[in-house]
Order: sequence, then structure tokens, then C-alpha cells
Amino acid sequence: MTFNNIKSKFPVFKKNPSLVFLDTAASALKVDSMINATNNCYSNEYANIHRGAYELSAKLTKKYENTREKVAKYLNAPSYKNIIFTKSATEGINLISSCMSEDYFNDGDEIIISYLEHHANIIPWHISNKKIKINPISLNEKGEINYDDLKQKINSRTKLVSLTHMSNVTGSITDFDIIKDLIKNKNIPLLVDGCQFAPHKKVDIKSLDPDFYVFSAHKIYGPSGLGVLYMKDKWIDSFSPYQGGGQMISNVDIDKSTYADGYEKFEAGTPPIAPVIGLSASLDFMSETNPNKIYEHEMELHDYAFDKLNKFNNINIYGKSKNKGAIISFNFTNLHNSDIGSMLDKKNIAIRSGHHCCQPLMKYFNIKGTSRVSFGIYNTKDDVDHLTDSLDEIIKILT
Ligand SMILES: Cc1ncc(COP(=O)(O)O)c(C=O)c1O
Repeated sequence: MTFNNIKSKFPVFKKNPSLVFLDTAASALKVDSMINATNNCYSNEYANIHRGAYELSAKLTKKYENTREKVAKYLNAPSYKNIIFTKSATEGINLISSCMSEDYFNDGDEIIISYLEHHANIIPWHISNKKIKINPISLNEKGEINYDDLKQKINSRTKLVSLTHMSNVTGSITDFDIIKDLIKNKNIPLLVDGCQFAPHKKVDIKSLDPDFYVFSAHKIYGPSGLGVLYMKDKWIDSFSPYQGGGQMISNVDIDKSTYADGYEKFEAGTPPIAPVIGLSASLDFMSETNPNKIYEHEMELHDYAFDKLNKFNNINIYGKSKNKGAIISFNFTNLHNSDIGSMLDKKNIAIRSGHHCCQPLMKYFNIKGTSRVSFGIYNTKDDVDHLTDSLDEIIKILT
């Protein structure tokens, strides 16, 4: 399947038409409708929200809150009341870690994560003020979560299972049906890091049924500085506030305060107003295009690229899962991934090199880093051909 003329919706290609952008997993390029909506917000609609007694503020408040409903619909979440805006997915996980440390964890509790996790789903647990033991799940030979190991690791001290929906290194997609079965009736909450999945495939919170789900707007053709945290009612009701300040209060005296109920308790201060308006436009773009069609398009490119890359001598591709997204990480024997990255850049091809904020995974694979290509809606087969032709040339120069 092809998305004819889709590049014309991404202004960066007007200035730089030959750009081959293969780093969407880090951050997606920006779609014009999102840029225009943000621009219009600042140019014509802007006022602080929730508190103004005037029309400009009231109108923008409505638009902002409508976006909460749009996000809930996009995720097929039970209600807009379960959607909390944060500054990033990273902040969403830190919020959960902080609130759980305050109200839920005890010293000696265990949480289960996997070796696939991004640092954003590792370090927040390290900096908890409770002594939490991390029980990591190993991977199978395809670079997927080892579900048998998960089964072994669950015990009476397990207080949370927190896993990526799709790896930002191997692209493998986690099978939450198996996981939900393993934790059923054990009263263990589930956090899903949807950063890589939500921009590429339809999320269905009602069927996934996690306690928490996070993603970042900037990976979904949207603005930076904005994350989405879905949280089940019982946690919204039981957690204490994460930060204090304006908007999250019920009543304030000089020496004490009481807090708003619901999601507002977690949104202290002036929120990311224009980014939320931008996200609204990027979600419209996603819905109009249909996330599952985007996935089909990207996987067609992935399969084409995988076959071409696999034909190189001395290439090692990390992760060969059948159920995956359009991300390929690889190394050439005796060549450094950063040399590959900078030489491709000279040919106007943007890929990622390094540890991808997954140092434990790099250590697990016994490597320092990889080259990584990741696909977005704007990529084409020509991009793949340009990549593999350029790699051919670079390898000849470097070896
Ligand atoms: C799987 C995964 N989780 C979490 C994050 C963190 O996202 P952000 O930096 O937008 O908070 C990323 C970013 O690359 C990611 O790929």
C-alpha cells in the first residue's frame, strides 16, 4: 500500500526534498495540520485556560478539554476522565513511580520489567524512595520477552509488571494476552509503555485493560513537550498528588491544602496548552489515515528493508520477532555504528546510532550500540534503496 503525496503534508520535505528520514522511533517529523493548529493557537486563540472569565480563555479551555476526549477515543479508553496530560511519556512513568512510592510500594517489594525496556521504564524505579527490587525478564532468541521466565518471576512480592508495548530497538511487540493471563487474579497492576506502539497501530485500552498506559505526542507526528498517561479510576482515586500548584486544588490555607478529585489532581500549573491543541490535529491526521493502514505500509517497507539488509555480509540484525513493528537494529562486524550513522548523514539519510536509551539491552546483547532504522508514514521503497545502496558504498570505503 502507498500513501500518495503524503510527503507534501510534511513541510520539512519542501526545504529538503531528498531527505531520507529513518529515525521516526526517536521522534516523528511534523505534519502540517499539527503545525498550523499550534500556530493558530498561539496567533489567534491563545489565553491561559481553566481560569479566565473571558471568551478567549473559555473557548480554548473547551478545545483543550475536547482533546482529552479525543485522546480517550483514540485509545478506546473508558472515559476522558482517565486521561492525564504530562510533559512526556517519561514524566508519566515517573509520576506513577513517585505516586506508587508514596502510597503503594513498601521496602522489599518487587517489580517486573524486561531487558527490552527504554531507560524511561527503568530509572524511575531506581529513584523510588522505597527499596524496590527489579526482577528483570530475559528474552528469547528472537529478541522477544520470554513469557516462561515471566511466569517464574511472578511471586507474592511482585507489586507491578511494567513492560514496553513495542521495543524501540528490536521492534518486537509484547503479547499482553499472555501476560494478562499470567497475572490474572493476582492483584498485580500492569503498566504498558506505548511510546513505540501507539504511533503505528491501533491501541485498544478496553481490551488491553492495563492499569496505566503512556505515550508521547512527539512520536505521533505531534508536538514535543507533551505526554499522555492513561490511568484506571482506582489509582486516580487512591494516589496522592504528584506535584502541587495551581489548578490541582480544592481549598488552600496558608498551612494546608486539599486537592481536586480526578485527573486534575495530577495536572498542577499551567498545562502544555498549545501542544495539546497540536496533538488534537495530529490525532485527526492519524485517525483519517487509519493507524492499522499506517502499520501495513510501514511493515511492507520493513520487510523490503529487512530482506535487503539481511543479504549484506557480516551483518548482525538484532531481534527477529514475527510480531513486530517497523524498526531494524543492526551492526556490521568490525564497523562502528556511529561511523555508519555519520557517513549516511553525508548522503542525507538520517538513522540512529548508539544505545537508544537501552543500555541494559545493549549489555544483554553484549554490544555497545547499534545502527537503527525506523519507519514512518512518509517513507518509501526509494528510501530503502537509497539506504542499502549507500551502505554498500560506505562498507567499501571503510573495509
Ligand atoms: C519505548 C520507549 N519508551 C519511552 C520513551 C521515552 O519517551 P519520551 O522521551 O518522549 O518521554 C521512548 C523514547 O524513545 C521509547 O522509545
